[in-house]
Amino acid sequence: MDTATVQRFLDGMKYETERTAPPPGFPQLPDIPAGRYTDPQFLKLETERLWRRSWLYACHMDDLPSPGSYLLWKKTGTPILIVRGKDDVVRAFYNTCRHRGGPLVKSECGRQDGFVCGYHGWTYSLDGRLVNLRDKRDFPGLDLSQRSLIAVRCERFYNWVFINEDPEAEPLLEHLGPFHEYFRQFQPDCWRFVAKESFEVRCNIKVLLDAFLEVYHLKSIHKDTVDRFLDHRGTTIALYRNGHSLMVTPNRRPDWQDPGTRGMRRIETATVLSSHNNPSFNFYPNLVVPVDPTGAPFLLFWPTGDATMRIECHWFAPDWGDGPPPELWKTRIANFDRILDEDLQFAAQIQESLMSPGFRGIPLNYQERRIYHWHEELDRRIGVERVPPDLRVEPRMQPFFEN
Ligand code: FES
Ligand SMILES: [Fe+2]
Repeated sequence: MDTATVQRFLDGMKYETERTAPPPGFPQLPDIPAGRYTDPQFLKLETERLWRRSWLYACHMDDLPSPGSYLLWKKTGTPILIVRGKDDVVRAFYNTCRHRGGPLVKSECGRQDGFVCGYHGWTYSLDGRLVNLRDKRDFPGLDLSQRSLIAVRCERFYNWVFINEDPEAEPLLEHLGPFHEYFRQFQPDCWRFVAKESFEVRCNIKVLLDAFLEVYHLKSIHKDTVDRFLDHRGTTIALYRNGHSLMVTPNRRPDWQDPGTRGMRRIETATVLSSHNNPSFNFYPNLVVPVDPTGAPFLLFWPTGDATMRIECHWFAPDWGDGPPPELWKTRIANFDRILDEDLQFAAQIQESLMSPGFRGIPLNYQERRIYHWHEELDRRIGVERVPPDLRVEPRMQPFFEN
C-alpha cells in the first residue's frame, strides 16, 4: 500500500471523526427489501447466480502440503477435488469420473499419486488426464484426451487458494482489484495456518455477513470488549468494483496495542494503517479479513440452508519457526471467540423476526453503506432483470467507488 493511499485512509478517519452529518451529496438509501432474506425464489437465484459463479476461498497451501495432497470441497453443493500437482500447481476438478460419475476421492483430504475411480477403475493423473482404463478393447475409438476430468477455475491470492465454478470468471487477482497490492505489506508468503473453528448459526447468511460489514453495533453488543478500544465514529470506508470493500477503524488511543498480540511475531513492513488501526477487508461475497501484522482470521460465511449458515474462522500468522503455533494463540483465539459470541447472540432471534410480518425492510445509515454496496453487487451478479422488481436494490454506490 503506497504512502498516498495510507494517507488517504488516515485523512478519512480524521474526517469521519469530525463530521456532523453524512458528506454533502451522499444519497438517501432506499430500504433493503425484507424478501431478500426470506423469499425462496430470490434465495434460489442467489445460490445459482452468486455462490456457483463467484471466487470463493477454498484453502491455504498448508492444507496441501505436498504433491498429490488433495481436498474434497463441497461448499457450493458441488463436489470439487482440489489437488496439488507434481509441478506444485494447485488445480481443481469436479470429483466426477468421466465414465459414469463415480467419485475419484471419498475422504475429505489425503495424498495420492493419481486417482482411480472406485466404480470401474478409470485412472486419472494428478493434473486430471485420463491415463488408463480397464478393458480398453471394449471402448474402440475412445479418445482418452477428450475425457479428462472437468476443470474448475482455481487460482491463488498469495498462498490462499480460491475456486470459481464459472469458467468465464475474470482472473482472481484482477477481480480483487488493489487487495493483492494492499496485502503485500504483510509478507503473506511467509504466513502459515494456525488453527480453524466453525460454528453453526440459525439465521440466513446475510444476517451475519451484514454484521461484519459495519461497526455501528460496537457500542451495544461489544460495549465491554471491542468498543473499549475502537472508535467506530472514525471508521473510513472504501468501496471497490465487484462488491469488495475495506473499512479501517481507528483505536481510541493512538498508541494502544491489543494485549492479546503481545509477544507474537509482528511483520515490520506493515503500514501504520494496520499496525495502529484496524483494517477489515471484505473479499466479496463471503470472506472477511480483519488483518493485523501479527496474524488474521479468515472469517468465512457459508449458507447451509435458507435460514441456517456456518461461520468458519481460519487463523493464519507469520511463520513462527519450528514446532506448533506458540501457546499465545490459544488465548488470542479464545478472546476472539468471546467477541464472536457477542456477534452471534441475536442471530436466531433476528431470523425469527425476518419471518414475521413485523419485518418490513432495512433502513441503512451512511456508516452501514458497505451492506448496501454488498446488496447492489448481489443484484449485478444475479442480473437485475432476473430479480423480482419489489426485491431489487436501486444502485446508489457506484459514484463512490475507488478507482
Ligand atoms: S464411473 Fe468411474 S470408472 Fe466407471
Ligand atoms: Fe461485531
